[in-house]
Amino acid sequence: MIPLKDKDKPIIRKLLDAGCCARCILRFCCVAVQSAYRLSYEDICRELSAFVRDSEKEQTHDVTIQTQKDDPPQKKLKLENSQAGEHDTSAAATVTAECGRDTAGASVCVVCLGVLQDFCNHGFAKKVAEAVKAENYEIESLVLSVSLPAQLSVREHSCWLHIKKEVREKSMCLGKDDVIQVKEAFKWTLQTMVSKELRVPVLANSPFEVAVGFTHAETDADCHFLATTCSDCFKPTKNKLSVFTRMAVVKALEKISDDKFCRNFPCPPTKPSTECSPQDITCLHGSVFVAGRYNKFSRELPQTPWVIDGERRMEGSVEELIAAPLLSSFRAEGFNFSSSGREDVDVRTLGNGRPFAMELLNPHRSQFTKAEIRQLQEAINQSSDKIRVRDLQIVTREAMSRMKEGEEEKTKSYSALIWTQRSIEKKDLEFIENIKELTIDQKTPLRVLHRRPLAVRQRVIHSMSASLLDCHHFTLRLRTQAGTYIKEFVHGDFGRTKPNLCDLMQTETDILELDVESVDVDWPPAVPE
Ligand SMILES: *[C@@H]1O[C@H](CO)[C@@H](O)[C@H](O)[C@H]1NC(C)=O
Ligand SMILES: *[C@@H]1O[C@H](CO)[C@@H](O)[C@H](O)[C@H]1NC(C)=O
Ligand SMILES: [Zn+2]
Repeated sequence: MIPLKDKDKPIIRKLLDAGCCARCILRFCCVAVQSAYRLSYEDICRELSAFVRDSEKEQTHDVTIQTQKDDPPQKKLKLENSQAGEHDTSAAATVTAECGRDTAGASVCVVCLGVLQDFCNHGFAKKVAEAVKAENYEIESLVLSVSLPAQLSVREHSCWLHIKKEVREKSMCLGKDDVIQVKEAFKWTLQTMVSKELRVPVLANSPFEVAVGFTHAETDADCHFLATTCSDCFKPTKNKLSVFTRMAVVKALEKISDDKFCRNFPCPPTKPSTECSPQDITCLHGSVFVAGRYNKFSRELPQTPWVIDGERRMEGSVEELIAAPLLSSFRAEGFNFSSSGREDVDVRTLGNGRPFAMELLNPHRSQFTKAEIRQLQEAINQSSDKIRVRDLQIVTREAMSRMKEGEEEKTKSYSALIWTQRSIEKKDLEFIENIKELTIDQKTPLRVLHRRPLAVRQRVIHSMSASLLDCHHFTLRLRTQAGTYIKEFVHGDFGRTKPNLCDLMQTETDILELDVESVDVDWPPAVPE
């Protein structure tokens, strides 16, 4: 049973005459009961037509009562009766014609251009479901998104103006915003059907979105007159094919006066001869984020692909080694790697490793057990001797920010192999070990000047310790503020880092090898073995 009210009757009649489909009539009658739209098109028609016929009886009844009370001239009564009769007959006829829509190919709705007629049924829901199945996603829920031709808003507005007068005369409090949107009515119907076909629930914030779109070339020009009334609304944008976007059209419709609209566009809208064309059905699963820590044991492996002038300078990279097993297990379309800082190609990352996060784009699978994630970690570990991964886990997008949080304040520990020009002994190193909380000024290093602006940064070297290897070599361990350029601190970068190790030791020093020993960011949380 569709909850229609007596006050809706004149509106229903008018909409039927204008060529509105049954579901659009429910929308304009502000029927907000979702199940009403899910009835078959034939059932909605049957109810509407019964409702209109009821009204015929009532009207005759009303007139009879009126006749008895006021006793108007016989002639007028006859006229009224025949008019009402004619009207009802035509409305009922329209309902019947619209009911034949699915089979007999009756007229296409002037407002929704067929979206709520031929695309709101099990047949189309099956098609959508098949398209989703073909993509082979493993999903737990879904949400439908619909993109409609912009001119639908123009036609909706026209139809609204057409019945607005009627609504006002009956002093019914019906505003344009109370009208159920085509998009809503379509979703209420199709989303439920697709959900049943795929056996997963609908979830408003589901990460899995099925997008259905429609176009209608025949009426594309419907929007064009709006450009002359609101030129501000239609500015070309880079990514859009047409300036007549739905947003722009809605904005223009808010500005245009009713009079001006009616002078430029037929109210009600003209009848189209074709229905909308459905576009390709597309699926998108929201990103999944995987975090962990990596070790890098090679001095010939960049963190990210090293490409200069379009040419690859070195095979492989940390991100690719980690990404490969993840991409194939999550069946993702791509990835976006980020980490807490980075090391140079020739620098190893030892200790507990460096925190990283991998955004997996459009994953076709997103649910993994802890054991499966562990297997993935092992697969990464075994894929190469150059890297190892620990604490691998699925995290939320929000948690990702904790990796970058306070990055500058964090401490990093390094170990470096140092060469000295002058011969040194143990006591030279004791001097170094006594230096605490040393503040240094670092001009942007020459080697990164091509990609970073020239600036002077202050960094703190919290502490150092050293062990002698031979009279020209020692191992230097440093605990520093994140972002300290260690190589430049050692060789001085032509005086661009002050003070530097050469100044402190009063000899030329150079760095032969560098390892990151620890990155003190306590994210992601450790995963117990
Ligand atoms: C990759 O991540 C960055 C930073 O989080 C973001 O700005 C960018 O849009 C992402 N790229 C993709 C393809 O998602
Ligand atoms: C991968 O290697 C890391 C570092 O050696 C180790 O801690 C972790 O347990 C390994 N994980 C698996 C599953 O092999
Ligand atoms: Zn319609």
